[in-house]
Amino acid sequence: MTTQAATGSDFSWTAERARLDGLPGGGLNIAHEAVDRHAAGPLRDRAALRWLARDGSVHDTTYGELAAQTSRFARLLADLGVEPGETVFALLGRVPELHVAALGTFKRRAVFCPLYSAFGPEPVAQRLTLGAGAVLVTTPRLYARRVAPVRDRLPALRHVLLVGADAADVAPEVPGGVDLAVELAARPPAWEIPPTSADDVALLHFTSGTTGRPKGALHVHEAVVAHHATGRIALDLREGDVFWCTADPGWVTGMSYGVITPLSHGVTCLIDEGEFDATRWYETLAEQRVTVWYTAPTAIRMLMRAGAELAREHDLSALRLIASVGEPLNAEAVRWGAEHLGLPIRDTWWQTETGGIMIGNLAGLEVRPGAMGRPLPGVEASIGRRDEEGELRVADGVPVMADDGEGGELLLRAGWPSMFRGYLNEDERYARCFVGGWYRTGDLARRDEDGWYWFLGRGDDVIKSAGHLIGPFEVERVLMEHPAVVEAGVIGVPDEMAGQRIKAFVVLAPGVNAETAAGLPRALLGFARTRLGAVVAPKEIEVRDELPHTRSGKVMRRLLRARELGLPEGDLSTLETAT
Ligand code: PRX
Repeated sequence: MTTQAATGSDFSWTAERARLDGLPGGGLNIAHEAVDRHAAGPLRDRAALRWLARDGSVHDTTYGELAAQTSRFARLLADLGVEPGETVFALLGRVPELHVAALGTFKRRAVFCPLYSAFGPEPVAQRLTLGAGAVLVTTPRLYARRVAPVRDRLPALRHVLLVGADAADVAPEVPGGVDLAVELAARPPAWEIPPTSADDVALLHFTSGTTGRPKGALHVHEAVVAHHATGRIALDLREGDVFWCTADPGWVTGMSYGVITPLSHGVTCLIDEGEFDATRWYETLAEQRVTVWYTAPTAIRMLMRAGAELAREHDLSALRLIASVGEPLNAEAVRWGAEHLGLPIRDTWWQTETGGIMIGNLAGLEVRPGAMGRPLPGVEASIGRRDEEGELRVADGVPVMADDGEGGELLLRAGWPSMFRGYLNEDERYARCFVGGWYRTGDLARRDEDGWYWFLGRGDDVIKSAGHLIGPFEVERVLMEHPAVVEAGVIGVPDEMAGQRIKAFVVLAPGVNAETAAGLPRALLGFARTRLGAVVAPKEIEVRDELPHTRSGKVMRRLLRARELGLPEGDLSTLETAT
């Protein structure tokens, strides 16, 4: 049995598309739906962005101003010789220039690729190389720390558009460097979006798999249909809302729901530059009168740790909906929200490849604590049965579906508008994601008899730490670059706050003397941190004489995990539920 949408029997994606404008000559472009159509109407002077800068100052950008800035950005790209279809990368924190760059890139019909600003030079270099990045928008500080050390490995990088007060001073020293603000100011605020088909690629999001290099998921302009629809159905966005998506726009949530979805609804988006701080977050919710708040389980757990007293000291009465995504949201957190924030926290499920929310505790409907929710209208989900080896069972070319209550692989019927349309330069890898018209999510879940979905774990070895998806191989590869390491195995171990924390096991090269070996875990932590950045680097390193291997010689991470957690080694298929 498969499960249809929780609500909306009269729902259709065609009708959802009709809620949008479309380009004057036909076609669909995200930037037109998110900015230009509002700038041309009654919302022109409404704040599109409200930036809470790290220094405490607050800066609004209206829809009219955002339309002008993004048009200037598109013109700049054209002047620099950036053609439609080329990729523009951004390595930025939470600043409005990120929004300008993304939407301006869409206006040029080029492809936007955000990179997470906490990445170290290695992940940055790898992604820029895979995407053959010719243009990068970043700050002088991030450039110096993350890009300059690897710049000689990036021959394709032609233009570096620098953001911030010191950009003008630094630009002459950066090959291809210019001050973005100066360049924008020199250009006219009008730009006609070139004809754009709904199937034109708009976004490239790198995500991690178990093995090999990061995967570049490609998304098209049609995705905005799903962003707009899910913004209404799952998040209840309405005119006049102040919406705060706490995710960093370097990841898919920050782009889909921090940029595109709220702007497509004409609401005001908060951009909070600072890092997590419980008191400041409550103040932000209260002072900004946030109405809809999309956040993550790790953040909720940190608020819970800060105590209910702190929540009570703030006026959260403007809040109408709280939702979360990215990792399992425990039932206790849902109830804590209801008791201390005045609203239950609505879990939602999706992933980079789905582009938008697929399953959720939808606005206005029952919340089931501990469950991810039910499929959205227009989304068909199912659970595929797995065999003893954990492989999806397929008969006559289609997955064998599990019974209600039985754990298996979460599947989605292919064809929703924000579905990824390829992995960059990896057609075969893309094709392997689909079986008999179903997209394989790689997640393990079960469905109860009422059609609610419950998360069980990942079907592969990728790690989720504080909501960030981390590929173990990317970490292992860097550790093995250290001369003292011959082999590495990287796993996620349970962590009270972050869900999982990255732990590495290494085997040392022959001839490493005892003294060096004693200091190695520490030295390796520093080595990994410098190259990978704090989020991707392991938090713990253990030296082992040997690591377990599969028959084909690969490190058996599952067995490492089983031993680490003290689980029976025999039945590895049950492991996922323990992490
Ligand atoms: O394993 C699932 C987990 O996050 C993965 C997707 O990560 P990413 O592509 O980085 O996208 C993050 C934001 C959408 C999923 O395959 N995940 C996402 N939402 C949930 C979740 N795990 C449990 N419960 C959720 N609600």
